[in-house]
Amino acid sequence: MKHIREEFNSIILRNTQEEDLDFVVNCEQETENAQYVGQWTKEQHRKVLLQEDILHLIVEEKDTNKAAGYIILAGLTKSSKSIEFMRIAINDKGKGFGRESLKGVKKIAFEELNAHRLWLDVKYKNHRAQNLYKSEGFIEEGVLRECILCNGSYESLVIMSLLKHEYTNTLTL
Ligand SMILES: CC(C)(COP(=O)(O)OP(=O)(O)OC[C@H]1O[C@@H](n2cnc3c(N)ncnc32)[C@H](O)[C@@H]1OP(=O)(O)O)[C@@H](O)C(=O)NCCC(=O)NCCS
Repeated sequence: MKHIREEFNSIILRNTQEEDLDFVVNCEQETENAQYVGQWTKEQHRKVLLQEDILHLIVEEKDTNKAAGYIILAGLTKSSKSIEFMRIAINDKGKGFGRESLKGVKKIAFEELNAHRLWLDVKYKNHRAQNLYKSEGFIEEGVLRECILCNGSYESLVIMSLLKHEYTNTLTL
C-alpha cells in the first residue's frame, strides 16, 4: 500500500495498520454507520492492506491521536485514473471530521495519486453524506435505481464524481 501521512487542521490521515483493524471493524458495524457502508470481516480488511490497488486510511484526531474513523480508496492502479472513494465512516460525527477527511481525500487523490476522476456511490436516502459531497464540489451523475437489496428492501444509489480540473478550479476560488 502506498505510504500516506497527511496532517490537516484537526485530523491526520495515515495508513491503516494491523493494530487498527479492531477499531475499523467496530466503526463499520456501529449502527449509524452500518446502514450506509459495506460490512467486511477483519480478515477482509487485513487482506486489502496488502493490495496495491487499495488505500486504507485511518482518520486520526490530531489532539488526542485517537482513531475517529476510516476511509478506503480503490482503483489506484487503473490506467483510467478513475479512483473510487469506496468507504468512509466517522464515529465522532458532526464535529467537522468528515468534511476535513473529504478535503484530505481530494488532495491525496488528485495531488498524490494523480487521479483524473474521483467517484463514489452513496445511498439515495443518505442525505447527510450527499450534502457533504455536493458542498465539496462533487457532481451527481445519476441514480442506479433499486440496485441493491438491504434487509429485504431494494435501495437506490446515487453516483457522484469530481474531475481533476474541477478540483483544481476549487483551489483557485
Ligand atoms: C457522512 C459522514 C462521513 C460525515 O462525517 P461527519 O464528521 O459527521 O460530518 P461533518 O461534521 O464534517 O459535517 C459535514 C456536513 O454534513 C452535513 N450534515 C451534518 N449532519 C447532517 C444531518 N443530520 N443531515 C444532513 N446533513 C448533515 C452538513 O452539510 C455538514 O456540513 P457543515 O460543515 O456545513 O455543517 C459521517 O456522518 C458518517 O460516517 N456517516 C455514516 C457512514 C456514511 O454515511 N458514510 C458515507 C457512505 S457514502
